[in-house]
Amino acid sequence: MVKFQKKAIIFDLDGVICFTDKFHYQAWKALADRLGIYFDKEINDRLRGVSRMASLEIILEQSGREYTREEKETFASWKNGTYQKLLKSMSPMDLSGEVKDTLVSLRNRGYKLAIGSSSRNTKLILGQIGLGNFFDAVADGTDITRSKPDPEVFLLAAQKLGFVPADCAVVEDAKAGIEAAKAGSMTALALFGDAKGCGLEDYDLACFSNLLDIF
Ligand code: BG6
Ligand code: MG
Repeated sequence: MVKFQKKAIIFDLDGVICFTDKFHYQAWKALADRLGIYFDKEINDRLRGVSRMASLEIILEQSGREYTREEKETFASWKNGTYQKLLKSMSPMDLSGEVKDTLVSLRNRGYKLAIGSSSRNTKLILGQIGLGNFFDAVADGTDITRSKPDPEVFLLAAQKLGFVPADCAVVEDAKAGIEAAKAGSMTALALFGDAKGCGLEDYDLACFSNLLDIF
């Protein structure tokens, strides 16, 4: 059995701690429908780990026309308003027992735990699922200028925890996140999504609680 000697674990939020994909999809789909642009679940999968503006650019690829910066900002803000209304339906019931118990066990084993997410809604989501004050550090889309695959968000999470990258492992569901972890010289653990089997990860997790076998 593989074992990793680390002091801290940095978790991606969307697709790892909880599942907001369906809300992102509904909100982007509503925007695409308003603009008469084709959008489907396959395109939605390409938005995993990608910032809000970069996601919008991917959606607008289908439009075949150029939009001004102001128009793009209006679209992104409309999507976010729609997305935030959907997030309000989330509650601690959206945090699985497996994720919660594993996090608590890792903490009891002495690991420092952080969030490293591209989302500017990170604190809202953590509050909705009852983890508002749980993590030792939170680095998110409001703290950074470069989104994954840039390592900025993970390096900031490590810095907030007071550890060097070599002491940290990252758990990710997006290939862009695995790339970010490796670019930041951290151990990259893939769970679900296009992270798993992408070829850059140090380990493929079978499930969230598999963390208790390797730490
Ligand atoms: C990431 C999601 O966590 O956050 C992406 O995987 C999303 O799909 C990105 O685009 C930005 O989210 P937000 O909440 O800032 O619009
Ligand atoms: Mg993710």
